[in-house]
Amino acid sequence: MSSVRLEGIAKRFGSTEVIRGVDLDIQSGEFVVFVGASGSGKSTLLRMIAGLEQPSEGRVFIGDSDVTDAPPSERGVSMVFQSYALYPHMTVRENIAFGLKLKKTGKAAMEEAVTRVATMLEIEALLDRKPGQLSGGQRQRVAIARAIVREPDVFLFDEPLSNLDAALRTRTRIEIKDLHRKLAATMIYVTHDQVEAMSLADRMVILNGGHIEQVGPPVVLYHEPATKYVAAFLGSPTMNFLPPSVVGDAGGADSVGIRPEDMRVADSGLSGTIEEVEELGETRILHVKLEGGETIAVRDRSLDDPKIGQVVSVTFDDTAIHRFDAKGARI
Ligand SMILES: Nc1ncnc2c1ncn2[C@@H]1O[C@H](COP(=O)(O)OP(=O)(O)OP(=O)(O)O)[C@@H](O)[C@H]1O
Ligand SMILES: [Mg+2]
Repeated sequence: MSSVRLEGIAKRFGSTEVIRGVDLDIQSGEFVVFVGASGSGKSTLLRMIAGLEQPSEGRVFIGDSDVTDAPPSERGVSMVFQSYALYPHMTVRENIAFGLKLKKTGKAAMEEAVTRVATMLEIEALLDRKPGQLSGGQRQRVAIARAIVREPDVFLFDEPLSNLDAALRTRTRIEIKDLHRKLAATMIYVTHDQVEAMSLADRMVILNGGHIEQVGPPVVLYHEPATKYVAAFLGSPTMNFLPPSVVGDAGGADSVGIRPEDMRVADSGLSGTIEEVEELGETRILHVKLEGGETIAVRDRSLDDPKIGQVVSVTFDDTAIHRFDAKGARI
């Protein structure tokens, strides 16, 4: 395992700057997740660490080595892509062993390594099948096995679960977390799924338009977002943003934010009309149009039978209020 350091990274495609001024220190053994909207630069940043893309400016370090000019094969990294990129004509065993063949590993050592990772990922029974005879989740595990068997210092994952159904996604996510614990390897993982990001990450890196908006442990980013962008990005439904006057706040903020789960129906508070009711099983979201015209989401299931058009009062604790200045920075 190795640390990874990015120093002053910028990337331009022609005259379009897609990554700018990225500095990042990833500790050895850390699980770091890059998250951000589509086009924010997650894959490009990951590909520059892998060596599949050359930065326009800045340096990439893996461990103590400056690898900016090194080819992918000399960086000690393994990458798992969204599309599994397995060889269709090879068996699972051959696919997994492929990375080792290139390294000229002996036959016995190769057999042993393949068996070891196949056992770890519970795909021993599938070793003689071809990728076409596997389910999506099994293929994804083969792709992960192929990455692991090379014993890289750093694992890079680019949306590895996005082709899987919800149940399999959750299961494989737990497997990846477990794998991280077992291997104690450095992992850098790209996703646009914030639940996946929050559940996997030691630290999350939130990208916005090619720059880092905030870096930190998931709970810190969720509860103490540095910017309005981060506040809005994390949480579903998103944080409610209101003019400060609506919440009786005269403290110099440009806008205030309150998360749906921090709001509740009460006997008094902000008055509004229920516009929509979302029953989600374990929770319920009320969409309430306030008298001032703003619509807010309230996560509350206390009403017996909420009706569209019903007038309700919504309240919250002062401690739940996030304040932002005109530039979107937290104050
Ligand atoms: N080879 C390229 N040539 C020109 N522009 C590119 C190239 N690769 C990526 N881009 C642009 O760089 C920006 C960042 O792309 P990137 O693939 O890193 O985004 P992403 O965050 O991974 O998005 P997604 O979530 O959709 O995968 C996008 O605007 C994209 O159009
Ligand atoms: Mg991408």
